[in-house]
Amino acid sequence: MEVNDASSRILAGLLETRTGQQLTISRRWRIETALKALMRERAIGTLDQLIATLVAGREPGLAEEVVDALLNNETYFYRDRAPFDLLLNGAVRRLERTRAAEKRLSIWCAGCSTGQEVYSLAMAFAEDSVRWRGWKIDIIGTDVSRGAIERARTGLYSQFEVQRGLPVLQMIRWFEEEEGQQWRIRPEIRDSVRFQHHSLAEPPPRPGRFDVILCRNVLLYFSNEMRRAVFDKLASASAADAILMLGAGETVIGQTEEFVSDPDHRGLYMRRERSGVVEPRRSSVG
Ligand SMILES: C[S@@+](CC[C@H](N)C(=O)[O-])C[C@H]1O[C@@H](n2cnc3c(N)ncnc32)[C@H](O)[C@@H]1O
Repeated sequence: MEVNDASSRILAGLLETRTGQQLTISRRWRIETALKALMRERAIGTLDQLIATLVAGREPGLAEEVVDALLNNETYFYRDRAPFDLLLNGAVRRLERTRAAEKRLSIWCAGCSTGQEVYSLAMAFAEDSVRWRGWKIDIIGTDVSRGAIERARTGLYSQFEVQRGLPVLQMIRWFEEEEGQQWRIRPEIRDSVRFQHHSLAEPPPRPGRFDVILCRNVLLYFSNEMRRAVFDKLASASAADAILMLGAGETVIGQTEEFVSDPDHRGLYMRRERSGVVEPRRSSVG
């Protein structure tokens, strides 16, 4: 399938308008692979035909399916492991102390893809059930991709997906095998979390004030402007002493003035106001 400049510009424009994600020139090689299955399902023979149908707006839902197919949904359980250990065994203990009276924690996984990140947290809390007895732990996963959110809700993973990042003992404990080498998350974990279709361009989901926010491997392909706006939004949706966890290759440095590195847990971030950092805000960031 030949992807010419005009076609890739139209597709890149559609993706950016709907999600904020940029399909930079260096990532345009993905178009062909990403759209193959969708074109087969819809019996669309060529990319030109797909673009013509899109532009004509003749097929309802096609634009959304194209956007879904172009999004990078790569994820796996306990991705990069170390930040999860830092979060669960370090930073969350601080919140455990400061929330001891109300016994509530609200956690938002923004851009959670097919749910592995959300279930990783839910399993970890369930495994520490004595410590968290009496607490209300609300974990919400959101994503702009309806397809990803639908899959997350099913909690059903292939053999390959369920083994990625998840130790066998956890797999056996929290998943039930179904026909065709599929593994379904157990109902007690499934029912302890919620999923919602949501774009980071929109106001944050309820309750709108979170103690922990994971926004991992999502901001990478936003423009600087969109990334800054999203950081502002995450800050406005955070409790004063909230924790922010980004992807392994991501940072707040040079991206936002709202968050700074958590000095006690390097690799995690916190609101500037609570950090004791006193230098004045700069009016513009790179
Ligand atoms: C590479 S995956 C990362 C998944 C998971 N956070 C992880 O680190 O394993 C990026 C996810 O961000 C989602 N995404 C992209 N743009 C978004 C937006 N504007 N609002 C919400 N989610 C978005 C994509 O659909 C995709 O599922």
